[in-house]
Amino acid sequence: MPVFVSLLLVCLVTLPICRAQQFLTTPLLGANHQALLEDRTWLVSDVHDIRKFVPLGSLTNIPSTEFTVLDHPLFPHHSVRIKKSSLCDGAPPAYTGYIDNEARHLFFYFFESRSDPDKDEVIFWTNGGPGGSSAFGLFMELGPCRVITSDNVTSNPFSWNANANIFFVDQPIGVGFSYAEHGEAVDNSIDAGRDIAIFSAIFFEHFTKFQGRAFHMAGESYGGRYIPVFAAQLLELNENLVEAGITPVNLSSVMIGNGCTEWPSMTSSYYNMQCQNISVPPIQDIKTCVAMKHRLSLCEKMMARCDVAFNPIDCEATTQYCYELLMTPLVESGYNPYDISELCDGPFKETLCYPITRQIETFLNRPDIQLKLGIDDAARNYSLGNHDVGLAFERRHDDIFPTQYYIASLLERGIRALIYVGANDWICNWIGNERMTLGLEWSGRDEFVSQPLQKWQVDGHAVGLTRSAGPLTFATLFGAGHMVPYNKPKESLELVKRWLASEAL
Ligand SMILES: *[C@@H]1O[C@H](CO)[C@@H](O)[C@H](O)[C@H]1NC(C)=O
Ligand SMILES: *[C@@H]1O[C@H](CO)[C@@H](O)[C@H](O)[C@H]1NC(C)=O
Ligand SMILES: *[C@@H]1O[C@H](CO)[C@@H](O)[C@H](O)[C@H]1NC(C)=O
Ligand SMILES: *[C@@H]1O[C@H](CO)[C@@H](O)[C@H](O)[C@H]1NC(C)=O
Repeated sequence: MPVFVSLLLVCLVTLPICRAQQFLTTPLLGANHQALLEDRTWLVSDVHDIRKFVPLGSLTNIPSTEFTVLDHPLFPHHSVRIKKSSLCDGAPPAYTGYIDNEARHLFFYFFESRSDPDKDEVIFWTNGGPGGSSAFGLFMELGPCRVITSDNVTSNPFSWNANANIFFVDQPIGVGFSYAEHGEAVDNSIDAGRDIAIFSAIFFEHFTKFQGRAFHMAGESYGGRYIPVFAAQLLELNENLVEAGITPVNLSSVMIGNGCTEWPSMTSSYYNMQCQNISVPPIQDIKTCVAMKHRLSLCEKMMARCDVAFNPIDCEATTQYCYELLMTPLVESGYNPYDISELCDGPFKETLCYPITRQIETFLNRPDIQLKLGIDDAARNYSLGNHDVGLAFERRHDDIFPTQYYIASLLERGIRALIYVGANDWICNWIGNERMTLGLEWSGRDEFVSQPLQKWQVDGHAVGLTRSAGPLTFATLFGAGHMVPYNKPKESLELVKRWLASEAL
């Protein structure tokens, strides 16, 4: 029997046609970011029961017929349910489950490495949105199998679990198969990150063979904002774990693919990408480009002012002005905002320019697939994108806070950062990302800035440009759009392999 699903997908990142009316009374995140950061109530304070803890030990003991529940005395409000799932033909073993925080339930997939799960490192992956399910990443980009039609999958030889163990998490609450029983919602990256940090801690505590193993937090698009915040929260939780006598999570790096990390430099670059011969020849006509350039400096001044004061009325006026100026002409041009070397395939609101997204959604609404995954009854109506989550973040203007400061702080603490960008993407493009990396203030800055962009190669062919110093690497991939592993699976896997091995590109 066919399953009827919603075709309303969330925009992977904010576009004018996805934007809502603003709610000027909602406090902006910029203004109360500090208060959120200073809230330490989510951290552990009572460490008395630690000796009662018995780790589950091995994943191999987990059945596929029912969930195994993992608790931890340090986190009395959280538990993890996990089962074996035969997904992608069952090789390597897949596990799915929920991270339960009282009435809130975050869904995850976990795949062991195809090489040596007992030695290989661990990657956490999230897609962006906000509101985008990580099934984009799993079934379209870097997972062990790809959905080709709603009733068939095919193995992906370039999956990132080639030599790493990898998680895909539908987050925050409300996204994909994740849900809250009483409609609680998360509307900012900081709140979203707490569940992820605690989940990571519980996982490494229970599955002792992974303890101390290097952990890499990766994300795409809005993940360029999530990941730096999540990594910082995990470091904060780690201090707590050490105090409690527990092995901390060995956070080793962050990997950001086509991230929209820094708002002002990215917004300015929308002009460059559509009016200059950068990745593709100019796609707008001269009069549009001239008008855009003429008004760009006002947009930039408005952004600078918003960035200082976080006044909701100013910031909203800025967003309206800049997006109308820079985004509307692109959307109207018919080009794919995720890959300006091509036109959008299908009506944007239905396909997001990639008709395969509809197949993935239908696939994940199949009762037999949901049974394999162990989906809770309350989350059966699956959608790849949750528009309400996107709007809630937008109302808080979670997208404005300068998240690149977190990256600088991580670099200063020895956490490596890989910023990679498909060169044909427009929405979180490489020019904006390059400016963001060049502007980072950290102790290796001078060395990084003094490096020229150099070609990097796979199989003797130049596949992109790169600049690197110490823990920071910036890399582009020629011929790829927003979803690099979708367009360039082989090159993206090579990139990840070299990164995990700490090799220069
Ligand atoms: C599924 O896809 C595989 C690989 O493309 C193909 O060999 C197989 O025939 C397909 N199966 C069905 C049921 O369509
Ligand atoms: C963390 O991972 C790195 C990289 O694999 C490794 O060199 C280091 O020994 C690990 N640290 C701990 C404390 O296990
Ligand atoms: C545009 O850029 C491409 C690639 O760098 C170059 O080959 C081409 O000559 C440029 N076109 C113009 C008109 O400058
Ligand atoms: C599923 O979700 C869509 C969109 O979120 C909604 O329109 C539809 O009514 C829901 N269907 C069911 C059976 O709950």
